[in-house]
Amino acid sequence: MSESSAYVIVGASLAGVKAAEALREEGFRGPVVLIGDEAERPYERPPLSKDYLLGNAERDTIYVHPASWYEENGVELRLGVPVAGVDRAAREVALADGSRTGYAKLLLATGSSPRHIPVPGADADGVLYLRRVADSERIKAAFLSASRVAVIGAGWIGLETAAAARAGGAEVTVMEAGELPLLRVLGAEAAQVFASLHREHGVDLRCGVQVSEITGAGGRADGVRLADGSHVAADVVIVGVGITPNTQLAEAAGLETGNGVIVDAGLRSSDPDIFAAGDVAHAYHPLLGRHIRVEHWFNALHQPQTAARAMLGQDVAYDHVPYFYTDQYDLGMEYAGYVEPGGYDQVVFRGDVDKREFIAFWLAGGRVLAGMNVNVWDVNDAIQALVRGGLPVDPVRLADPGVALDQVTG
Ligand SMILES: Cc1cc2nc3c(=O)[nH]c(=O)nc-3n(C[C@H](O)[C@H](O)[C@H](O)COP(=O)(O)OP(=O)(O)OC[C@H]3O[C@@H](n4cnc5c(N)ncnc54)[C@H](O)[C@@H]3O)c2cc1C
Ligand SMILES: NC(=O)c1ccc[n+]([C@@H]2O[C@H](COP(=O)([O-])OP(=O)(O)OC[C@H]3O[C@@H](n4cnc5c(N)ncnc54)[C@H](O)[C@@H]3O)[C@@H](O)[C@H]2O)c1
Repeated sequence: MSESSAYVIVGASLAGVKAAEALREEGFRGPVVLIGDEAERPYERPPLSKDYLLGNAERDTIYVHPASWYEENGVELRLGVPVAGVDRAAREVALADGSRTGYAKLLLATGSSPRHIPVPGADADGVLYLRRVADSERIKAAFLSASRVAVIGAGWIGLETAAAARAGGAEVTVMEAGELPLLRVLGAEAAQVFASLHREHGVDLRCGVQVSEITGAGGRADGVRLADGSHVAADVVIVGVGITPNTQLAEAAGLETGNGVIVDAGLRSSDPDIFAAGDVAHAYHPLLGRHIRVEHWFNALHQPQTAARAMLGQDVAYDHVPYFYTDQYDLGMEYAGYVEPGGYDQVVFRGDVDKREFIAFWLAGGRVLAGMNVNVWDVNDAIQALVRGGLPVDPVRLADPGVALDQVTG
C-alpha cells in the first residue's frame, strides 16, 4: 500500500482547481497533484457558449488561473493524461501513460460528457457538440461560413448556441423533443418565456419533434430529418441533448454510484478517503433533505471548498442554495433553488413578463422552492433567503413589486 501523503485530484477543470486552491487556503502543506486529460490548464466553460463563442472575449480570459499560479501554489499539474483506474487497496491512481501516483486522499472532479444522439448520420462531419474550448472554436469557425444552422435540443447549450448563431446572422432551426425549451427545469409557465424570446429573435423553434436521422452527402452533414418526414437543411448541426456524469473511474473502483458518484453532505464517497465534487457528485443536500446532482458553474465553484475541508478532516456540509445563470440575446437571468420536474403547485410572477423584466417564483404548499430573476438585478440574495427560510409566503405580496422580498412571508 502507498504511504503517499499526496492529495490527488482527478479532473483539471473548475471543480478540480478550486479544490487545489482551497487545500492551500486551508493551510495544507503536503503535495497536491491535479491530473487532467485535457491539454489545457483549467478553464471556465460558460464563455464557450457565450462571449468566447460570440468573439467578444479573448482566449486568455477563460482560464481560472494564470499559468504561473500552479508553481507558485505548489500544485503539480499533470495535463493531457487520463487517469485510467483507481486502486483503492494500494491507494494509487493509475494513469493512462503507465505511471502510478499514490494518494492519501483522492478527489474525483471528473465532470460530465455530452450525451450523443443515437441516430443514423450522427458521426458525420459538421455534427458538432460543445463541451471543450476546442469545440467552441470549431463551432465559432463553422458559424463564420454557415448560413443555415440546425440545433438539436433546446436546453442550455442549444439555446445559447442558437442565440450566438443568430447574432452571426444565420438562419437557425432548433429542434426539441419536449413540448417547450427547458421544460424540465422551468416548467411550462416560465419555459414559454424562452420559446417567445427565441421566436422573436427569428429562430424557427420546433418543439415536440423527434429527430430520426442526420442527413448528409460524402460524409458531411447537410440537414436533419424529423420523424414526421420533414427535413431541415443545414450547413452545420449542433447537438446539445444533455450530459452524463463521468462516473467510470468510481464505478470500476467499486464506489457507490448512481446518478453520479454518491457522496454525503461533506462530499465523501462510500470510501472515506475518496471524495467527489462538481458535475459528477450526487451529493446529499441538507437543505433539501435528499441527494442532488447539479450541472452548473456555481456548484463547481463552491463545492470544492467543502470537499477540501472534508479531506482535511473537518466536519463540514455543502448547503449552498443551487444557483445558475444564462445570457441569451438581451436576456440575462439568475435562478436560485431546486425544483423537481412537476414538483411545484404554483408559479407567481412579479414584474412584466411580456417585457421580460420579472421574477418568477416556484411554490409548493405556499413555500418558495426557487426563484428566477430575468433582467432584474440585485435580488438573487433575497430570493435565496426565501428559499433557505422555507417559510410560507403570501402569493399576493410576492407578486407585488412594491413589497420588499423580505416582507412577503406570513
Ligand atoms: C458550453 C458550456 C457553457 C456553460 N455555461 C454555463 C452557465 O452559463 N452557467 C452555469 O451555471 N453553468 C454553465 N455550464 C456548466 C458548467 O460549466 C459545469 O457545471 C462545470 O464545468 C462543471 O465543472 P466540473 O469541474 O465539475 O466538470 P468539468 O468542467 O466537466 O470538468 C471535468 C474535467 O475532468 C476531466 N476528466 C474526466 N475524466 C477524467 C479522467 N479519467 N482523467 C483525467 N481527467 C478526466 C474532463 O476532461 C474535464 O476536463 C456550462 C457548460 C458548458 C459545457
Ligand atoms: N447557462 C447554463 O447554466 C448552461 C449553459 C450551457 C451548458 N450548461 C450545462 O451544460 C450541460 C449540457 O447542456 P445541454 O443543453 O446539452 O443539456 P440540457 O439537459 O440542458 O438540455 C438538453 C435538451 O435536449 C433535449 N433533448 C434530449 N434528447 C433529445 C433529442 N433526441 N432530440 C431533441 N431534443 C432532445 C431535452 O429535452 C433538453 O431540453 C448541462 O449540464 C447544462 O447544465 C449550462
